Amino acid sequence: LPVASLRAVAPFPVGAAVSISLLKNNAAYRRVMTTEYSSVTAENAMKFGALHPGATTYNWTDADYLVSFASQNNLRVHGHTLLWYNSLPGWVTTFQGDSAAWENLMRTHIQTVVGHFKGQVQGWDVVNEAIDDAGGLRTASLWRQHLGDRYIDRAFAYAHAADPAALLFYNDYGHEYSEARRLGILRLVNDLKARGVPIHGIGLQLHTSSNISDARIATAITSAAATGLRVHVAELDISMNPAKAATATFTAALAAAQKVKYKALAQTYKALPAAQRYGLTTWNVGDADSWKRNDCRCPEWPLPFDDTYQRKPAYDGLVEGLQ
Ligand code: G3I
Repeated sequence: LPVASLRAVAPFPVGAAVSISLLKNNAAYRRVMTTEYSSVTAENAMKFGALHPGATTYNWTDADYLVSFASQNNLRVHGHTLLWYNSLPGWVTTFQGDSAAWENLMRTHIQTVVGHFKGQVQGWDVVNEAIDDAGGLRTASLWRQHLGDRYIDRAFAYAHAADPAALLFYNDYGHEYSEARRLGILRLVNDLKARGVPIHGIGLQLHTSSNISDARIATAITSAAATGLRVHVAELDISMNPAKAATATFTAALAAAQKVKYKALAQTYKALPAAQRYGLTTWNVGDADSWKRNDCRCPEWPLPFDDTYQRKPAYDGLVEGLQ
């Protein structure tokens, strides 16, 4: 018998990142969100440039729409993301000021955004992608350049002060394919914990692919849990065309292989202690919505639903792993 929904089988929140325009304009997309999921993240609508396009201008329209949609449909909201080196508005990238002015800019943004959504957003990705490929702090981040290495500590402290009940996450990618990245991220997170920074969780993006072994994905998840923090599988998708072949097709064999990978990942995540399972979130809903199609400019099918929002074998794998 077909299962009722992801939210019915999973013992923790299962979410998707959403595009606000699809949520507003596509009935099938909206129906999948309301029937299948128990958590939601804005794919773009809560990023710095979307919420804070001018120095004294905030635009809450799309994010407020999402929060009210979530509350009407019993979805938990995860906030993504307060500080990222990417997707910054022009006024920030050209901002002229000393370190005190930069500190004020960072603090004001965090306090205004977290304060606006206080009580409505359960957790925040406070800092996103601060680690580079060698495992050190990313030098190309404007935040680090103007505020020094400890900007991360202060970002968490400002967010905590603005909503003491919100769960605060450090979110990054590559744990499953790069030991340097995985160990660098764990080092950072353990340092934050040791210094008493109010961090509650670690987000593993897990934009992964068919050529990454299940064992490496399991190591990514279990080593994050070994920090003692909550773990969020925060941006899951599994590429099935890692070679980026221009003319690939999604065969039954590929669909079956993808099912096995989704199942193994979900099983590993489900085996974590219940108190550490913040949830598992896919990065959008249907294959046609995935950022991976734009990114690789090639055929891709990374998500549990197909282009017309029908359940794929990957969906069944997820269900088997979550049950
Ligand atoms: O909305 C504008 C549109 O008005 C404009 O005409 C068009 C022209 O470029 O751009 C549109 O904005 C795009 C936006 O997505 C919405 O589609 C941006 O250019 C584009 O850069 C943006 O890409 C997003 C990317 O983050 C950068 O913010 C992707 O959708 C989103 O999936 C991706 O998500 C990131 C996570 O935040 C962090 N982890 C990695 C993940 C994948 O890159």
